Amino acid sequence: MPTQGIPQSFGLLMVFALLAAGVFALVGFAIVKGADRHELSGRVESTEATAELWKSGLYCIEEGQEADPSLELVDRAPQTCEAAAPLPIEDIDEEALRANASPSRGAELFVANGCQVCHGDTGEGIVGPTIAQTGLDIHGVLSQYRQPRGVMPRQTTEDVPPEDIADIWSWLQTLPLPDELIDPDNNALGHEDVGQFASN
Ligand code: HEC
Repeated sequence: MPTQGIPQSFGLLMVFALLAAGVFALVGFAIVKGADRHELSGRVESTEATAELWKSGLYCIEEGQEADPSLELVDRAPQTCEAAAPLPIEDIDEEALRANASPSRGAELFVANGCQVCHGDTGEGIVGPTIAQTGLDIHGVLSQYRQPRGVMPRQTTEDVPPEDIADIWSWLQTLPLPDELIDPDNNALGHEDVGQFASN
């Protein structure tokens, strides 16, 4: 019967229309959701990844990744992960190095290596903690060079050999302590916890 044909095909049409609308809605939703998640996971991944690197002491930027602005403490180009990979820590004769260390040479090396930019002219601390009279031994300072915690740049044996580090270390021992420690909880005075940063 033709009178029943119209509502029947109309009904079918409606079913198709509803299905199509449903598919459109799903696809649209997925696109929007996907975009959202992508944006979010991009943010989360970079913050988490940076925080992870931060914790491990290696602040570095993977190829194509942007530096997390919240962790930009100093005005310098972020290190690539390749340049920040941990270096082996040399076996040293702590006693021999100590005996032969030259504080006056250490003073020159300190400036030549740019340490004062972060630690101040007399190790009083700026972005880096107070290191005047550091409680670390030469091996401890050497470790901070090869596998630095925080934003301190990594230095190879070629950059700063253990003898130079011993010289710098011995000079640090001759420095006066600042009236106010930039970071009273830092490791420079032999505290257990990892140094924090001056908030000035
Ligand atoms: C870009 C800034 C920067 C430069 C340059 C820099 N440091 Fe550091 N240094 C830091 C920061 C930040 C820390 C704290 C790391 C942490 O404990 O999280 C640190 C930590 C240290 C420590 C360990 C302190 C402790 O007891 O926890 C020593 C020792 C040290 N630096 C020596 C040096 C020497 C020597 C030089 C020069 C070759 C140098 N640093 C160059 C930023 C810097």
